[in-house]
Amino acid sequence: MDGQKLAERICRESRRSQALVQEDSKAFMAAVQKIRFERRYYLRRNAADARSRLRLLSRSFSDHVAREEKEIFPRVRRMTPALLPLQNLLSLEHREFADRAAALDRGLAALEKKTPADPAAPARKIYSDGIYLVCLVRSHFAVEGDGFYRMLRERLSSESRPALLSEAS
Ligand SMILES: [Fe+2]
Repeated sequence: MDGQKLAERICRESRRSQALVQEDSKAFMAAVQKIRFERRYYLRRNAADARSRLRLLSRSFSDHVAREEKEIFPRVRRMTPALLPLQNLLSLEHREFADRAAALDRGLAALEKKTPADPAAPARKIYSDGIYLVCLVRSHFAVEGDGFYRMLRERLSSESRPALLSEAS
């Protein structure tokens, strides 16, 4: 497979995986908004719902991460080391997502178990942490699409393509 086709295939698969994560991310955001704005009476039920949405989001993001970390990044590292700094940044964001999602799950589990005497502060924290997580996903995909994958496509379409491909094999 020539460089152009390889880059196109990698980018197409990446967009597909991002679309799945974005869907789960929207559903999670809607659930988190209910925690912040619906009545206290529904808090435990809304926390359980947000928790199950977070699990789905974490699963689709984990699939995205596994594909990049195990299949794409090692291959790109061999083909074009110039992308390594950007790749390292993306890997840091993959880990940040996992840490923040785990912390959010703990917060939601506490709300699901027992409604606090004053639920306003924990509900606000879940809401702001949830927004941060969704923004992290969006910004991560923007850096991937406008930076990493665009540069990869350019590198593999460039004049040095045959050399890059022989490095990759
Ligand atoms: Fe990624």
